Amino acid sequence: MTEKKLGKFITVEGCEGVGKSTQIRFLKEYCEKYGVGAVFTREPGGTDIAEKIRAVILDADNKNMDALTELFLYAAARRQHTQELIIPALEAGKTVFCDRYNDSTLSYQGYARGLDKNMISVLNGWASGGAKIDLTVFIDVNPTEGFRRKGGADESDRLERESMEFHERVYRGFKEIAEKDKDRVVCIKADGTKFETHAKIVGVLKEKGVF
Ligand SMILES: Nc1ncnc2c1ncn2[C@@H]1O[C@H](COP(=O)(O)OP(=O)(O)OP(=O)(O)O)[C@@H](O)[C@H]1O
Ligand SMILES: [Mg+2]
Repeated sequence: MTEKKLGKFITVEGCEGVGKSTQIRFLKEYCEKYGVGAVFTREPGGTDIAEKIRAVILDADNKNMDALTELFLYAAARRQHTQELIIPALEAGKTVFCDRYNDSTLSYQGYARGLDKNMISVLNGWASGGAKIDLTVFIDVNPTEGFRRKGGADESDRLERESMEFHERVYRGFKEIAEKDKDRVVCIKADGTKFETHAKIVGVLKEKGVF
């Protein structure tokens, strides 16, 4: 019996409103058109249990949430999502595209909230254990432009309500991660139209042998 080849695991990262979900949608259309077997998912969430955890994390009423509690909830949601959905899809040979993953945790909870980055990396390792990220598409747009694109912050989202200084720290985090891990992270300057950004991403995915 021949073993099925593991699928590729692609994460899409970036600040609020930069076009992650838009690009994931375009990639889904591309995969459908060209018959690429792929799964599209998002974090926090992606499975029933993880989506319930997402609702707790993002609920703007949860004003008293402790920073470590927040981190552990992200990790718990990721663990469940990875075990239940991502790993089985990769083992079935599918390409998995995930809207946000480990780098968002390091940027938001590490660079922006100030929690220990080494501890976060260890926790990310446990949560994503068994699923190795092959490629990360970092959509490089600053938070001011991101919020402009989405027409302002969603006030019902606890993270989006944070200050602009917070979001600037998140952005610096993403850039530093991209700089430190050049083999894994591809930085896509997304200053053009969403269609131009899509074409850039498809170009990179072809170059890296994903498509
Ligand atoms: N290249 C682009 N230029 C201008 N506007 C864009 C571009 N790409 C996406 N948009 C628009 O910006 C808005 C935010 O896009 P989208 O929801 O995909 O971002 P996101 O990164 O998923 O945001 P969030 O962090 O809130 O999930 C949407 O209205 C989308 O149509
Ligand atoms: Mg989105």
